[in-house]
Formats: sequence, C-alpha cells, structure tokens
Amino acid sequence: LSAALRLGVAGLGTVGGGLLKLLAEQGKALTGRSGRKISVVAVAARDRKKDRGVDLSKVRWVDDPVALARDPEVDVVVELMGGSEDPAKALVEAALAARKPVVTANKALIAHHGVAIAKLSERHGTPLHFEASVAGGIPIIKALREGFAGNRVDSLYGILNGTCNYILTTMRETGRDFADVLAEAQKLGYAEADPGFDIDGIDTAHKLAILASVAFGVPVNIGAVHVDGIRNLSLDDIRFADELGYRIKLLAIARRTPHGLEQRVHPCMVPNNTPIAHVNGVFNAVVVEGSSVGRVMLEGRGAGAGPTASAVAADIVDIARGVSLPVFGVPTANLARLPAAPTRRHQGAYYIRLVVLDRPGVLADIAAALRDAKVSIESVIQRGRAPEEPVPLVLITHDTEEARMTRALERMVKLDTVTRPPTLIPIEQL
Ligand code: NAP
Ligand code: HSE
Repeated sequence: LSAALRLGVAGLGTVGGGLLKLLAEQGKALTGRSGRKISVVAVAARDRKKDRGVDLSKVRWVDDPVALARDPEVDVVVELMGGSEDPAKALVEAALAARKPVVTANKALIAHHGVAIAKLSERHGTPLHFEASVAGGIPIIKALREGFAGNRVDSLYGILNGTCNYILTTMRETGRDFADVLAEAQKLGYAEADPGFDIDGIDTAHKLAILASVAFGVPVNIGAVHVDGIRNLSLDDIRFADELGYRIKLLAIARRTPHGLEQRVHPCMVPNNTPIAHVNGVFNAVVVEGSSVGRVMLEGRGAGAGPTASAVAADIVDIARGVSLPVFGVPTANLARLPAAPTRRHQGAYYIRLVVLDRPGVLADIAAALRDAKVSIESVIQRGRAPEEPVPLVLITHDTEEARMTRALERMVKLDTVTRPPTLIPIEQL
C-alpha cells in the first residue's frame, strides 16, 4: 500500500456527517479500490460540542477551517460547509495554493467563482473535484467530463433539486400544504441552510450553470441563467396539470439555439408519458442529448447524507488514484464563448392560470389580449359558477414566443376582472 491519504474535512453537517459515516463503513473497500488507506485526520465546524452521531475521538478539531489548508498532516481538503464566499472560498483557494487537492459539494461556490478557482487549480497543478455539487449521488460530472467526451452535447435538462421535487411530488400525492412539506424536506437533510435557495430555483441555477460549463465547454456563468422557483405554485396548478395530462417539475434546461446558449430554470409542465414526469420525491434526473450517443438519462437520489457522501467519496477515491482532469473538462484557456440566448426569444406553449371575476365578457377580454399579442389558444378550462366572485380560468396556448406571452400578460393584469397576478408555466414537449 502507498502512504495513507489524510483528509481534512471542513463541515460536519448532513454531508460531512454522512461522509464520516461512509468512510467508517466502507473504509476497507475504499482502500482496496484506491490502493491507499483513507483517513480523516482533522475536522472543522462551528460548534465543537454538537453531537454529530459519529466518533470524533481520534480526530483533531480545528477551530479555523482555513487552517486545514496549511495543516502539514492534511493531504486533501474536503470542503462541506457551503456558501459562495468565505470561509469556504478562502479554504478552497488556500488549499489549491498549497497544492492540496480539494473535494467540495459546494455548488454556490463553483457557480460564482468556478473559472477563477479552476485557473488556480491549473496554475498549481492541483485537482479540484465537485461531483457532489450537482444531482447528489448521480455521477453526472464524471459522465460529462469523461463518459460523454466523444460527443458534442446539444441539450441537457433535468430535475436538479431534491427538495423541490420532494415538495411537488408530496403535494400532488397527499394534497399537503407547501410549507409543511418544505419543513419535512429540511428535517430529512435535503434543503440548503437557507431553503429559499431551493424553492426560488437558485440552487438549481447554480447546478445548471456548472453542468452547462462541463457539457458545452463554456465558462460557468450564473448570470446567464434565467431563474424562477416553485414558491408561487399552488395545489390548483398541480391538480390542473394532472387533468391536462402533465406533471409540474422544476426543470433546469440548457440547449444550443439559433440565438445562442439557452439556460433556464423554472417550473414546467411535462407530458405525463415522458420518463422525467415520473422522477419523484427526492430523486433527480439528468437527460443529455449527445451527437453520437443520442439521449441518455441518469436518475438517482439528488440530496441527503448518503447519496451526497457517495459522490464525495468517489472524488476522494479519484484523488487517491491520482486522477487529475481539467476542472470543466477542458483547460480554462479553451473554454468557448457562446452568446447567451435571450429569454424573450424562447419558443414554446404555455399554461396560464388566472383568477378572474365571474362576469360576462371576461373570457372575451382575455382572448383579445392573446389575439392582439398573436398568441393562439389551444384550450380553456373554466369551471364553477359564482357570479361576481373570483374563479380560476386556465388556458393552454399553442407554441409562441415568450415575448408575445409577456405582452399578453401585461394587458391581462390591467383588467379589472383579473384579481391576482397570473401563473404562467411553460409546457416542455421533451
Ligand atoms: P449543513 O448540514 O448546514 O452543514 C454545514 C456544516 O458546515 C456544519 O457542520 C457547520 O457547522 C459547518 N459550517 C458552516 N459554516 C461554517 C463556518 N463559517 N465555519 C466553520 N464551519 C461552518 O449543510 P449540508 O447540507 O451538509 O451542506 C454542505 C454543503 O454540501 C453545501 O455546500 C451544500 O450546498 C452541499 N450539498 C448538500 C446536499 C444535501 O443534501 N444536504 C447535497 C449536495 C450538496 P456546525 O455543524 O457546527 O453548525
Ligand atoms: N438542497 C439541495 C437539493 C441539496 O435539495 O437538491 C442537494 O444539492
């Protein structure tokens, strides 16, 4: 056996705790696979007294996580604290500068500072691995960087947030309230420290920006991702989707278009007969369309201690084996500059749910707004009768340009009979 690989782990929450447990259970197998004993020699977190449910008696506690980068007994830094700024950023930068390979699960950090950190990794010839940052236990970074290296990727889409998928699935299956299911997802260790990152689509956007970089060979650009979350969806939308033959999923989509690279995160109606419509609960899925391989779908648990620790452990084994790859699949100097496709040019059909006063002529006013924006209606659902009371009105459009929909909605919200901001959900024919 070669010398042991000594880890310094910063962050002992859901993922850090899960990693320590995995290393304790799978230690022998990992040694067999990598030819080196892998041991945790130092850890850092905020609260030294907190019970982590793992034995830390033989591990050195370090108060300042950044000190792990300078620690002469630490060979590899594992950053599992989270957050796009310090101390996570300072730790990763200091470790790479000290030529210590880094493993991180931190998508916020990579999405915001990925290119600068990749340059640092190149300058110091030191690997940076971040498999756990996207889609939990699904080895999608490895698949894109290595398995699909022979392809030109034309599109990539998927469900990348376990918390949102858990909420949407549970609401649909049980009729339970949004806030109640979110609290449950937090208890299960799925949510971010600030769950607003999950439900507002930000976490998914971080992940999409990372995947787009590796898949299309472009610099990570979180600013180019159009983001909308699931906060404003209601049980009504979930029920109408069912009735219309769709499921609502928070999708991340990146694709080459004639206008440039489109990167979007928002709730979508997906046809009930597509595989992705049946990816439920905490499960994630990523679909890659490659020039030679065609369509490939990978599915697995996207959040939680075990799946995420599984991805972190795979990165550690790669480091123990001496694997070193360009951070985003190509050296940073070769990352291509693709223009960002403007959202207003997006083409597709839409679901619109309005709450309108039940009054003669309402439907004609709404139809006129769509007609004048040159949007054609495919179907309408208006149910119930409550003269002068608010009732839901649901419309499905034919394919159109997003700019036209925006124009029509601007006109609808000005109508006295429209009592609330409309809900607009793109329909994706995947
Ligand atoms: P968590 O449960 O909140 O744990 C965070 C850990 O970092 C805690 O141990 C905390 O210390 C420590 N920490 C936070 N700020 C610190 C600071 N300033 N100094 C020292 N220690 C600090 O979070 P998590 O769910 O494990 O997530 C960790 C990372 O993995 C994040 O980047 C997250 O986005 C990513 N991730 C999470 C999942 C998941 O399913 N949870 C999946 C994939 C990726 P205390 O315990 O003492 O408070
Ligand atoms: N909060 C994230 C999620 C954790 O729910 O998907 C996994 O990245």
